[in-house]
Amino acid sequence: MLTDSQIDSIVKQLFDSLEFKDEPRGLYDPLRYMIQIGGKRVRPRLCLSCYSFFSDTMDESILSPAAALEVFHSFTLMHDDIMDRSPLRRGVPTVWKKWNEDTAILSGDVMLIDAYQLIAKAPHKVLGRVMKLFSDTSAQVCEGQQLDMDFESERRVSMEDYETMIGLKTAVLIACAAKMGALIGGAGAEQCEAIYRYGYNVGMAFQVADDYLDAFGDEKVFGKPIGGDILNRKKSWLTIRSLQKTSDPEGFMDEFEKDPENEEERKGKIEHFKSIYTALGVDKDAKSEIEKYNTLALNALKGAGLKDENVACLQRFAEKLTGRAK
Ligand code: IPE
Ligand code: IPE
Ligand code: MG
Ligand code: MG
Ligand code: MG
Repeated sequence: MLTDSQIDSIVKQLFDSLEFKDEPRGLYDPLRYMIQIGGKRVRPRLCLSCYSFFSDTMDESILSPAAALEVFHSFTLMHDDIMDRSPLRRGVPTVWKKWNEDTAILSGDVMLIDAYQLIAKAPHKVLGRVMKLFSDTSAQVCEGQQLDMDFESERRVSMEDYETMIGLKTAVLIACAAKMGALIGGAGAEQCEAIYRYGYNVGMAFQVADDYLDAFGDEKVFGKPIGGDILNRKKSWLTIRSLQKTSDPEGFMDEFEKDPENEEERKGKIEHFKSIYTALGVDKDAKSEIEKYNTLALNALKGAGLKDENVACLQRFAEKLTGRAK
């Protein structure tokens, strides 16, 4: 099994050496920009860790699929930032802001294609299963993103519907990353499924944490503008939980749907809702929810026949994500 610091250096080397075409620059520069700035790269990390539970060989047949997960994820972010009108990502201007929307659409498209080319380097023996896993997951992410947008204009969204939405837009890709590593490493069907369930629940915790940080994070560390979900009238975990707890859901929604007209009003709206969240205690509830999903993630591994050191590695990974500030 690879240690955390071995994974660090493999991932660094992988993205430093990943090559993309040069011309036309308008198409490939934004792609390089996203990949080189780099985020946390949690999906390739998880994929490589799970792979290393079952195999010691380290070559293109696992490195390329691991990279594909990050290229695909970065493509979804490039398009998500257009959809969410977000000006900042990973602490720098988003592609649609720095270039323009058309560029962000087309560069995103070519990233999706590049991701498929990298996935295609998975070993022949498991290629069919890897392709199906990746394609099913990619379609689900689009479904989740559509629900996320649909919910912006719905007055009441249940917790169950919210969970379906984040399961699709976020959790399935993290689950896919974990399972893909196991599959390529040679794990059996039962182990692959347990690892998928682990990844899914870690992914759920991850998105609840993202929703929490969108209101309560530090922009310098988080790398994204604070309060974007409030301004976009997103049905985040904090909104949904507030609607469950408030004595006046109609009044809450009337305020939530108001469109601030200038910078001062925007700041005012963000502060207003943050204070409602704190008064209702939904910030603390979010922390417990993250813990709940982490416990579910670890429970999913029980009885799967993984070595203790592998379970410990996955536990550390989940804890690191839970405690994340970015
Ligand atoms: C952001 O993903 C989108 C979500 C699913 C919450 P990350 O938080 O993994 O973003 P980067 O890749 O580290 O920038
Ligand atoms: C994004 O969710 C999930 C995907 C990109 C698929 P968010 O819209 O919450 O992600 P951030 O906060 O912009 O990173
Ligand atoms: Mg979004
Ligand atoms: Mg967004
Ligand atoms: Mg977010």
